[in-house]
Amino acid sequence: MTISHDNEPKSNALRLLMDQYVGHAQSTWTPTQVVVSRAKGRCLWTADGRRLIDFTSGVLVSNIGYAHRGFERRLADYCKGLPRNAYNMVTEIQIEASRRLVKSMRGNAHAQRTLWAASGSEGIQKAMWAALHHHPERHIMVATRGGFHGKKGLAADVSGERSANPNVRFISFPMGGGEPESFYRAELDAIWREAPDKVALLITEPYLGAKGSFHPPKWYHRMLEQWCREHGVPFIFDEVQACFGRTGSMYAWQSYGVQPDLVVLGKGVASGVPASVVVGRADLIGALGYGEASDTFSGVPEACAAVCATLDVFEEEKVVAHARRAAKWLRRGLDTLQKQFPFILEVRGEGLVFGLDMADTVTADACVLEAYRARPKRGVHFLGPLAGKVLRVSPPLTITRDEVDEAVEMLAAAWSRVG
Ligand SMILES: Cc1ncc(COP(=O)(O)O)c(C=O)c1O
Repeated sequence: MTISHDNEPKSNALRLLMDQYVGHAQSTWTPTQVVVSRAKGRCLWTADGRRLIDFTSGVLVSNIGYAHRGFERRLADYCKGLPRNAYNMVTEIQIEASRRLVKSMRGNAHAQRTLWAASGSEGIQKAMWAALHHHPERHIMVATRGGFHGKKGLAADVSGERSANPNVRFISFPMGGGEPESFYRAELDAIWREAPDKVALLITEPYLGAKGSFHPPKWYHRMLEQWCREHGVPFIFDEVQACFGRTGSMYAWQSYGVQPDLVVLGKGVASGVPASVVVGRADLIGALGYGEASDTFSGVPEACAAVCATLDVFEEEKVVAHARRAAKWLRRGLDTLQKQFPFILEVRGEGLVFGLDMADTVTADACVLEAYRARPKRGVHFLGPLAGKVLRVSPPLTITRDEVDEAVEMLAAAWSRVG
């Protein structure tokens, strides 16, 4: 369905051409279908000149904002002279990026070696392959219900509530019901009783993102980790979305006090250059033989360079410390909005990722649209609601106090038109 908005001649024409030439399945539904012609800092500009404060970071990718001068300069420097593709070649930049990622995970004794991929779901698939190869006599894959690990292959098999893969078993993930630790532990024990010594891996997300921002109590992941240790089961942490500062720590495993066997990084790890990296136990990653996880684009020099350039910016600008401060400003702003608008049922989140649980889908869609056209030439950019009615708020970690205030002020005015 082609969307058109009043007074947007250029954007409307481009939306029509997009529909003509690009399959719509490539996009996820969003009520604005924003047409972006420029991005800088924490802002996007539409083809018709509207300036939007970005509350999405793309899709939690542009953690350092857009067109970051230091990042772009370093990326170009690191890439200088290197081939675009280095298939089956050894490059210093891949060694350097891997070394730095491992170093950045000091505190997790299992962070020893990397395995590269070109998208989050492929990284997840490779992490799962590693665990399955390590224990070829085991076939059961345990996942936490309601997670999202990607749309392809094994990543899709362990996403959601049900799986077409007969080897997948789900256990519950806390969603505010108040169940005690023993409730979840009992579910794990039941799986072990059903298939003793057959569990090859346990995969979970730090928090349920796509399901609508559900953030578990700290003991939950510790309990999962403890159970994995007791049963010799590799514990896989999907940080495709959470890595690089989103939860207020560089990594979410730090926020939750665990040391996963394999951590899968994606999205913000390379600030927009397609990359995903599994970081974890050398014996697990080494269980895959030559070629078993190779493909055309994994670990291309530009991806490795982008990881190094991102780490440079994080270190030089102390991005995580800034994100923690920004999280306080944003939380305060979102709480104020909740007080003003009864249709915001709950604000859930941690660090700089929040979900605004709206009364219903129609209201949530209307809020996305009204935010977009908050002022004649300004607005706030959201993606379409998650799980039907949850608006995700995940601005770049570098957002300033003025930008938070400006966005909240625009939303206060714009959402008073929803009702
Ligand atoms: C937690 C999590 N895991 C995995 C993925 C899949 O990543 P990709 O879309 O890069 O395949 C996503 C994407 O949204 C995600 O949020």
